[in-house]
Amino acid sequence: MKIAVIGGTGLLGSNLIKLFKNYDVRAFSRNHSVNIEENVNNLIDFSNITIELGTYFNSWCPDLIINTVALVDLQKCEDDLPLANFSNYEISINLAELAKKNNSYFIHVSTDHYYNDGKYRHNENENVSLLNNYAKTKYKAEEAVLNIYKKSLIVRTNIIGFRKNGKESFFEWLINNMSKELNINLYENFFTSPISVNLLGGILLKCYKKCLVGIYNISSCESISKYDFGMKVSKRFSFDNKKIKKTILIQNESSIQRALTLGLNTSKIEKDLDLKMPKIEEVIDSLYYEYKKGD
Ligand SMILES: NC(=O)c1ccc[n+]([C@@H]2O[C@H](COP(=O)([O-])OP(=O)(O)OC[C@H]3O[C@@H](n4cnc5c(N)ncnc54)[C@H](OP(=O)(O)O)[C@@H]3O)[C@@H](O)[C@H]2O)c1
Repeated sequence: MKIAVIGGTGLLGSNLIKLFKNYDVRAFSRNHSVNIEENVNNLIDFSNITIELGTYFNSWCPDLIINTVALVDLQKCEDDLPLANFSNYEISINLAELAKKNNSYFIHVSTDHYYNDGKYRHNENENVSLLNNYAKTKYKAEEAVLNIYKKSLIVRTNIIGFRKNGKESFFEWLINNMSKELNINLYENFFTSPISVNLLGGILLKCYKKCLVGIYNISSCESISKYDFGMKVSKRFSFDNKKIKKTILIQNESSIQRALTLGLNTSKIEKDLDLKMPKIEEVIDSLYYEYKKGD
């Protein structure tokens, strides 16, 4: 099977490349990076993506294209809307068009950053609150991708893992601070359903095999606050939890508006794959084994 991972230098992209190493997997990124081998990472100019990838895909037609490109920094999305729009929307629609032309199965990785209603978990049809440019550009891409190409899977998720390219991921920050016994403030009013990138990668392949299309929540089946997540991680990794403090995310008019209750309901994917999504403890276990393996 031929798999194209777009954005091979990121948290998700770099881990998918390693996870899918037994397939013909190739990355397409704007740069090289320490977390991906150069021989699998093809550099492309994303402002000319239709021509550059179109030419490449004419001779190497991928069965599966996974879009992991995004501008995930909420502040940068507020400061530079054209860049957020380009990274989160325009690249996505160009990829959907290329996937359609090549009849490849298209996985577009979206977000969970849509809910601020205090509810514990949300299904795929729930009303969304688009509070910032990140959410707005990601949501616009979901709609456009499905309009362009019906054979697309839109994945709403919350990912956790090791980025290993110098830009610390949330989980790397957490583990590094815990291991150095530094103070850690974690929100008790910010909820997500995190899944490790490796568990997510395995599920994406099952979706491809079943040819699932449309919007799916793929995440942990539970929702947890950042504080409770940190406490569970400290226990599993045998770190002292005395330096972990509860804090409240308070929004005011000058701060970026963030959705706070992002938990996802995974019933739809569980039914269609006949597979339970992982509980939080299974997610932390998978991260623990990855950390111990340390490759
Ligand atoms: N991280 C999370 O907590 C989280 C939560 C929910 C959903 N998601 C979604 O999961 C997906 C993967 O996120 P991630 O955490 O892996 O992101 P990441 O680590 O920031 O990686 C993003 C990738 O996109 C590339 N990229 C960004 N802007 C680009 C542009 N204008 N042109 C070309 N390439 C560009 C980056 O390249 P460089 O390495 O060169 O910057 C990198 O390869 C995204 O769709 C994101 O919205 C993430």
